Amino acid sequence: MTRTSLIGQPLPRHDALAKVTGEARYPGDLLDAETLRLKVVFAGRPHARILGIDAAPALAVPGVVTVLTAADVPFNAFGLIENDQPVLCGETVRFAGDKVALVVAETEEAAERGASLVNVAYEDLPAVTDPREALSPDAPLVHASRGTNLLLRVPIRKGDVAAGFAEADVVLEGEFATSWQEHAFLQPEAGVAFVDGASRVVIETAGQWLHEDRRQIAVMLGLPEEQVVVRYAAIGGAFGGREDLSIQHLLALAAWKLQRRVGIVWSREESITGHHKRHPFRIRCRWGATREGRITAVEAEVLADGGAYASTSVEVTKVATLFASGVYHVPNIAVEGKVVYTNNIPSGAFRGFGAPQAQFASECMVTRLAHALGIDPIELRRRNIYREGDIEPTQQPLPAGVSALPVLERCVEEMTARFGGTATGGASDPERPWLRRGFGIAAGIKNLGYSFGYPEQSTATVEIVGRGEPEGAVVRVGAADVGQGAHLALRQIAAETLELPLERVTMITDDSAEAPNAGSASASRMTLMGGRAVHDAAAAALERYRQTDDERVEATVQFRPNATTMLADDDGAGLPNYCYGYAAQAVEVEVNLLTGQTRVVRVISVHDVGRAINRQQVEGQIEGCVAQAIGYALLEELKSRDGIILTPYLSTYLLPTALDVPEEIVPVVMELADPQGPFGARGVAEMPLVPFLPAVAAAIHDAAGVWMTEQPFTPERVLAAVRAAEAEARVEAVAAG
Ligand code: MOS
Repeated sequence: MTRTSLIGQPLPRHDALAKVTGEARYPGDLLDAETLRLKVVFAGRPHARILGIDAAPALAVPGVVTVLTAADVPFNAFGLIENDQPVLCGETVRFAGDKVALVVAETEEAAERGASLVNVAYEDLPAVTDPREALSPDAPLVHASRGTNLLLRVPIRKGDVAAGFAEADVVLEGEFATSWQEHAFLQPEAGVAFVDGASRVVIETAGQWLHEDRRQIAVMLGLPEEQVVVRYAAIGGAFGGREDLSIQHLLALAAWKLQRRVGIVWSREESITGHHKRHPFRIRCRWGATREGRITAVEAEVLADGGAYASTSVEVTKVATLFASGVYHVPNIAVEGKVVYTNNIPSGAFRGFGAPQAQFASECMVTRLAHALGIDPIELRRRNIYREGDIEPTQQPLPAGVSALPVLERCVEEMTARFGGTATGGASDPERPWLRRGFGIAAGIKNLGYSFGYPEQSTATVEIVGRGEPEGAVVRVGAADVGQGAHLALRQIAAETLELPLERVTMITDDSAEAPNAGSASASRMTLMGGRAVHDAAAAALERYRQTDDERVEATVQFRPNATTMLADDDGAGLPNYCYGYAAQAVEVEVNLLTGQTRVVRVISVHDVGRAINRQQVEGQIEGCVAQAIGYALLEELKSRDGIILTPYLSTYLLPTALDVPEEIVPVVMELADPQGPFGARGVAEMPLVPFLPAVAAAIHDAAGVWMTEQPFTPERVLAAVRAAEAEARVEAVAAG
């Protein structure tokens, strides 16, 4: 009997039923009556010196068990890449969400009351909240000991830009700005911690990387890693927002100090003001092209607001700098990337990780160049888009498997079939001529996995049991399922490799002591990296099983992809990535010229995923990401004034709802096998966010004749752009007599 392959099958999620019935245990469900409650005392001011902390009034509140401050933290510095963030601030606070004290109490009410009574005396310091001002020599220093607010400068140079511009027939300049974005995952930060019978600190929470959370917590407590156990409950999305520690280390600290079970559930307000955001960027650029439509030169300044602490800023900024010339082969490039410290909320990982911001600029520039040259924007893309063997801005050939052109062509095909061509828009309703339709297209590129020499690995252990034939298997892989379905994808890969039914494969995934380190659920990497580790461990176990008479065999494999390198300090030369994903999107919008309100009418989102392990999950990722991209493009505006977030509620920070998401989102899944991925799989998680913003900008331009250069494209901004264009047209008409 031939076996039907499990690869690609839209098998149902094993956690689906419990999630829809409400039985699934999220971190907030782990707090019981015996659990002490933790409350954070936040700074509430962007920059200040701490003169003193008086905890006595808090300690006098009935039910308050303890108040912890900086002096209670064994090693008071943490961070994903750099240890530049205090767990609890002792001397200085650098953003309003900095943590100054922790109140632990028998009840939520007592903890809250205690927190309100911790008296902190501050001396306010001048704050810097504008990234350009942060670079001025007389700006206040966010980290005084560094002597500068510059966190990273990354230059990327290729060829000779002056010669490239001299060759160009058209040169255009552009300026773009993007703002913060909030992850807004389901259930804010929550969890419990306790000390178990073996004197291990156990933290049960949500996150994106068990072993990295464990590492940082062990460093903070000065404990060996084995004495810290991180477990993940059900996770309601992460999107990069759970990459940094938020409450995990605070729970661990309190539980370790008190040797009791401690829990926390942040409110949405605490979540929005307490965890990092997507980086705001400002990009200035200049693009040149010949009459024949060959892009000859790109020059750009890329500046990111890193906020008060480093988080993943240096990596995000390198990604944005690398993608300043988009998904195009450009012979001459000079890009200067910078990220600065400010007294704003820290910026960090968010789905796309610098690529959406950079390619907002690059894709808008390519469409504008096409218009200036009188060449169809699709055709201009076709002529310049990356092909196999093309040289990256970092002077090395792209990793094999460059599918940018076939992805673009497929998008054009789908657009022609569904939109009746690649036609431009216009008024669709003669009764309401102020409603204008427009179409836009954009392409995109995003790395999969860690870049720039960051150690990249994924480890899995597979055990096979059976008499004569494998009857079942246990897969151990410390991989977070943040809602994307990683556990099912990994299980399908194991079952397929072992030729077992899915039910015969048991997954152990959510305990740092029980499963090896698969790396983070981030950078669109888990299907490729975790999948390859599971695949290779399963194949190794199977081979061992066949070679012996043992009824139980086990194999552990650490998969390492092709190595990447750091970028050279002077020109950025190097091998930045081992794999890229390619995307193209076509978007139709309707712009109301009277109100500026823009509605996304339909979306075609085309992705080369290498191989869909579970097609339904891939399509779900695309649809969900498009919804998030709609929020980013049109609605989500995190307002901050002088370092204070003015929109800390979901009533003021507007997320898209079902009414903002069109019925027609067409996920198009291409399967051009990746050379390294399991069964050829690449991954897709971040991709739909990369080209969406410029596709919408192009569609708004098509509909209303204005270029939006500042994200998000709120009604106020679109209306202002339309009015300005009308005023300019009137002035021109008058001048023309
Ligand atoms: Mo992410 S932004 O790779 O979690």
